[in-house]
Amino acid sequence: MPRPSIQSRRLLSRFFGMLVLIAPSIAFAQAPETASNGVIHAKQNIFVPMSAAAEEVLGVSWLVTGICTAIFVIVAGLLTYAIIKFRSKPGEERQEPPQIYGSFQIELAWTIIPIMIVFGLALVTARTIGTVQARQIPADAIKVKVIGRQWWWEVHYLSADGKTTEMITANELHVPVNRVTHLYLQSADVVHAFWVPALAGKTDLIPNHTNEMWIEPNTLGTFLGNCAEYCGTQHANMLLRVIVEDQAGYDNWLAAQKAPPVEDKAVATGKDTFFRTSCVNCHAVDGTIAKGVFGPDLTHMMTRQTIAAGVAPLNRETLREWLRDPQEMKHGSLMPNMQLTETELDDITDYLLSLK
Ligand code: CUA
Repeated sequence: MPRPSIQSRRLLSRFFGMLVLIAPSIAFAQAPETASNGVIHAKQNIFVPMSAAAEEVLGVSWLVTGICTAIFVIVAGLLTYAIIKFRSKPGEERQEPPQIYGSFQIELAWTIIPIMIVFGLALVTARTIGTVQARQIPADAIKVKVIGRQWWWEVHYLSADGKTTEMITANELHVPVNRVTHLYLQSADVVHAFWVPALAGKTDLIPNHTNEMWIEPNTLGTFLGNCAEYCGTQHANMLLRVIVEDQAGYDNWLAAQKAPPVEDKAVATGKDTFFRTSCVNCHAVDGTIAKGVFGPDLTHMMTRQTIAAGVAPLNRETLREWLRDPQEMKHGSLMPNMQLTETELDDITDYLLSLK
């Protein structure tokens, strides 16, 4: 038997390497970790839907998986049968088998059957999209505008009529359980896609156009999502969290987010440094002269779980590290290295830590 070539051995080792990578993520999906504010559903998993829309999507996914598995078993089975049955036997004279050109019946079969399968799947998919989109959005739905940016999410909580922004945050949506949140999706630069697999399918965020979708989570906890449309260097680090709370928890959170930041005299030096540097050209802090709109609103930044759109958990160390050189933590980020001195770094970190 000929030894497998170097290429095929490389391919095999890559395949098994991928299996090794995939296996732990499947295992983790079974065991959600817990955090202070409830369960973090740590893996983005379409197979554990936590909302009506995600259940619809899962139905289609199982159908497609089932049909594809059947096709694979039939094709691979026939192939295996042919390989074993018609392999050359010892002592047999080696000769070219009969060459057959064209068979009307077979060609018709392998054209029509795939067309019917694809058409059937397209119909089922269209029906699912229709069901999800036809949902009547209740008048009391929470209205949230989400703007995709390279590479983070700007989140506006809108007034009941949807016309004005009442509060701005970033990378994390808080929503009440068992209520509809109506999302208005926009983009400030390139095409992104909003995807929280446990809650709904993907929807693109397109420049100069508003797409709409809704989520209605039925379980408490933190759900992870990410941008699902390649949008540049840090596409993979454009992560997103939906924190589902009970109504009281949500109301408290919203009230706290709308309140002005607490004034802490102990961080006056840091505040002074922050407002002296060009931080304020890009970032906003409510009730101050900082009105920048290019970067995330920092008014209550310390209530968020992560920094740099999910790159690291938010704490003193990661915040200082980020301020020292954002390019090291997230290469390509639009925030430049501000060349701050060690003292300035400490002071600004202290000030930002007070923004709760
Ligand atoms: Cu934003 Cu990919």
